[in-house]
Amino acid sequence: MRQISFAITSLVATAAISAAFLAQPARAQEGKVNEPGLVSYEIKDYQIPKSLTGKPGDPAQGRKWAITSGTGNCVICHRLPIPEVDFRIGNIGPDLTHVGARLSPGEIRLRIVNPKVVNEDTIMPAYYRVSGLTRVDPKRAGKPMLTAEQVEDLVAYLSSLK
Ligand code: HEC
Repeated sequence: MRQISFAITSLVATAAISAAFLAQPARAQEGKVNEPGLVSYEIKDYQIPKSLTGKPGDPAQGRKWAITSGTGNCVICHRLPIPEVDFRIGNIGPDLTHVGARLSPGEIRLRIVNPKVVNEDTIMPAYYRVSGLTRVDPKRAGKPMLTAEQVEDLVAYLSSLK
């Protein structure tokens, strides 16, 4: 009898501990992030509040990265107010036409750097990570998909879309 009640107690304890972890999967990724070769940054309240470069990016450059293969090419999944792009494609992710009115620059920055913090199952790539990635081209291993400057250019561009 004593053994059974011990077993039940430990089962309940295990369930309570796992529930505590499961309840806050993204919170576990809050705080300082340091990856080799990358600028370190802090995640707070589902945002990266500070610029990765310490200064604002260039929105005109960001617009260019958003449509350029190899430096983002966000338009393969997202609609943006860029008339020269054929938007019969670009409907996999949400429409970003007014994203600057919906999300703060810090929220946009986290979604570009590592959207998995917000949604673990997202199909959107993490553009500023070098670890925890799958199917990386060996030529690109150890390099993020975008530089810190390019991330900031995109943050500046998307934030301007009110
Ligand atoms: C493979 C498709 C894909 C690509 C490429 C992609 N995204 Fe996304 N993105 C998504 C999806 C899907 C979501 C919806 C959120 C989720 O899955 O959690 C999303 C969400 C977002 C959001 C949040 C929008 C909101 O309203 O909450 C932003 C901002 C964003 N993406 C920016 C970008 C930028 C900038 C690029 C290019 C550097 C990019 N995305 C490239 C698929 C993509």
